[in-house]
Amino acid sequence: MEHAIKVTGLRKVFGNHTAIEDISFDVKPGEIFGLLGPSGSGKTTTIKILTGELGQSAGEVSVLDTNAGSFGTADFKSRIGILSDNSSLYERLTVYDNLKLFCKLYDAPLDRIDVMLEEVNLKEARSKVVSKLSKGMKQRVLLAKALIHQPELVFLDEPTSALDPGNAAHIQRGLQKLNEAGTTIFITTHDMEEATELCDRVAFLNNGKIQELGSPDALRYKYSTHAFHVETFNGEWLVIENKTENADKIRDLIASGQVKAIHSDNPTLGQIFLKVTGKELV
Ligand SMILES: Nc1ncnc2c1ncn2[C@@H]1O[C@H](COP(=O)(O)OP(=O)(O)OP(=O)(O)O)[C@@H](O)[C@H]1O
Ligand SMILES: [Mg+2]
Repeated sequence: MEHAIKVTGLRKVFGNHTAIEDISFDVKPGEIFGLLGPSGSGKTTTIKILTGELGQSAGEVSVLDTNAGSFGTADFKSRIGILSDNSSLYERLTVYDNLKLFCKLYDAPLDRIDVMLEEVNLKEARSKVVSKLSKGMKQRVLLAKALIHQPELVFLDEPTSALDPGNAAHIQRGLQKLNEAGTTIFITTHDMEEATELCDRVAFLNNGKIQELGSPDALRYKYSTHAFHVETFNGEWLVIENKTENADKIRDLIASGQVKAIHSDNPTLGQIFLKVTGKELV
């Protein structure tokens, strides 16, 4: 399989509102791909189209070598996992019984339940009724549900948005492990640090178009001014361009014992997003 996801000229119109104008991208098998964009930019809509919940107005989408016409089949559904804002649980059942139902639905072995509860840090809550859980706990049960059948590809719509920093970090490590074991991950997030840590490549979605796409490292290098910021012990900050003729200048500073720290000038993904789109991601 060359692409886990291939999107060409995708467009989505709701009535007289164009949510997605024209986007094209692909996701490679084994990749963690992040779709980043401000509220209302079409992230959830894109996931819904890629998982068969919504039809597209124009363009081609292929997921795991399957065309949109077959997204409703049981075979396709068993190969993907979805965590989205309308994923739901049975409120009156316990965490364990919820996951048991989804195991049965996908023919997954029941021992997956404890594996997943450990992954999402919810072992102690296994016998709790879902209606009594906090928002962040529910979010983690939903994540366990999305992954219970060991899908090849998972779509995660803001998986850590309701979580405290400790649980968000735990989930991020879990996603990294899952990816190392071979699962392809398509994730949307507002959290630029999360995207920088987690994603092999990110796409910036804004005004219905992808305005930038690449690895966080490559983007940070592309938008860098390629200068070093040198902090001296007497509190000065010197900006020295990364040019061969400046090598001696930096060498002399270090040799004279004046240098407290040298920083590269690569901007953060958040700063690049602001520069490219004119919008902050909050
Ligand atoms: N079913 C629908 N009917 C009409 N308009 C819709 C529908 N779903 C989404 N939209 C519109 O499409 C645009 C994109 O919405 P979408 O939910 O995809 O944004 P998003 O990037 O996921 O935002 P957020 O970060 O707030 O979740 C918005 O203007 C939204 O109002
Ligand atoms: Mg959304």
